[in-house]
Amino acid sequence: MTPLAVYIHWPFCKSKCPYCDFNSHVRDSVEQERWREALLKELETIAAHAPNRTVTSIFFGGGTPSLMPTKTAEALIERVHQLWPVADNIEITLEANPTSVEADTFKDFKSAGVNRVSLGVQSLIDSELKFLGREHKAAEALKAVESARNSFDRYSFDLIYARSGQTLETWQKELSQALTHADGHLSLYQLTIEENTAFHHAYKNGGFTLPDEAQSEALYRLTEELLAAHGLFAYEVSNYARVGQESRHNLSYWKGDDYIGIGPGAHGRITTDRRIATQTLKSPERWLEQVEQQGHGLEIWQSIEREQEIEERVMMGLRLARGIHYEEFEKQTSINLREYISDAKRKFYAEKGLLTDDANRLQPTLSGRLVLNKLTAELLS
Ligand SMILES: C[S@@+](CC[C@H](N)C(=O)[O-])C[C@H]1O[C@@H](n2cnc3c(N)ncnc32)[C@H](O)[C@@H]1O
Ligand code: SF4
Repeated sequence: MTPLAVYIHWPFCKSKCPYCDFNSHVRDSVEQERWREALLKELETIAAHAPNRTVTSIFFGGGTPSLMPTKTAEALIERVHQLWPVADNIEITLEANPTSVEADTFKDFKSAGVNRVSLGVQSLIDSELKFLGREHKAAEALKAVESARNSFDRYSFDLIYARSGQTLETWQKELSQALTHADGHLSLYQLTIEENTAFHHAYKNGGFTLPDEAQSEALYRLTEELLAAHGLFAYEVSNYARVGQESRHNLSYWKGDDYIGIGPGAHGRITTDRRIATQTLKSPERWLEQVEQQGHGLEIWQSIEREQEIEERVMMGLRLARGIHYEEFEKQTSINLREYISDAKRKFYAEKGLLTDDANRLQPTLSGRLVLNKLTAELLS
């Protein structure tokens, strides 16, 4: 049966981090009953358009879904089980902030059905956490990681690097310490300056500098080396895992499987006789009102043009170290990618050391992953 991933967005945070452009909002209070009912309602409405599938993963993302009442998570997990058959090894992930308050709820989330947690640790240096506007300290984050280890079979945490003034030496030290607390998965993101964030404003006004391109590349290469030495492989641009410990939910996006998005600002891709893109209203209040009136908060439900679909699938597929499997790609799209992207072009970029290309797969090399957006654009031009 066709696999389906379910994404559920919780849009609230205790405070807004200065680098973050996720759909996250700070509110004095949240009407929990109304939110629970609305999320359940939208799940049901969208489910009616995605029948005959087996759910392979649920992902509670945010915002800070660890602030969601466990009762809400439990009700949503239960409803997914009522609406579709689910895979025996279904992965149910919760994103969490690494504070003691949230760590105290892990056991309850586990009872609710969550079996994997992903913690936003961001840094193990207190002054850097302060720069990143985080409310936790490194020691508290490590305690939360410990608590995740004791509560769940699988956990991961995020760090943000390529920060202001970071050297290879300081990053090596911090990352080595992180590795002593890691299990099978880590997400390591280079700090990006997103528009409409406090960091964007501060950066533009010279408030801080960032590593230049050469330094960022050196930091990226060091990261991959250190992680590989610990048995965690770069299976995606910013994600590292032991074999078999990859995030199955995120793999669904990169492999181009179907997923539905519930909650404010969530995206989805559903294949019917065509590929449909969905997106819900970003404003929590407008989303809530529309769900109560219409049963869903969708503002976009449109089929994707063929060319756009191929571009999207190539862009997502090349994020993965294992790249794009030609036969799978053809099954999904009826397109022979070896013909769609000419031999000459693939050979050109393979000779430049950005790709490897054989009869089965088109794969980015590490150097290719460093320039992925440009590479993808050139392959498809
Ligand atoms: C939705 S947040 C994670 C959950 C939780 N709200 C938290 O912050 O702990 C997803 C992750 O994206 C990363 N992230 C967000 N904005 C970023 C940026 N501008 N540059 C690099 N990484 C970023 C952070 O590592 C963050 O943990
Ligand atoms: S990084 Fe996480 S906690 Fe911070 S504002 Fe974004 S979603 Fe919220």
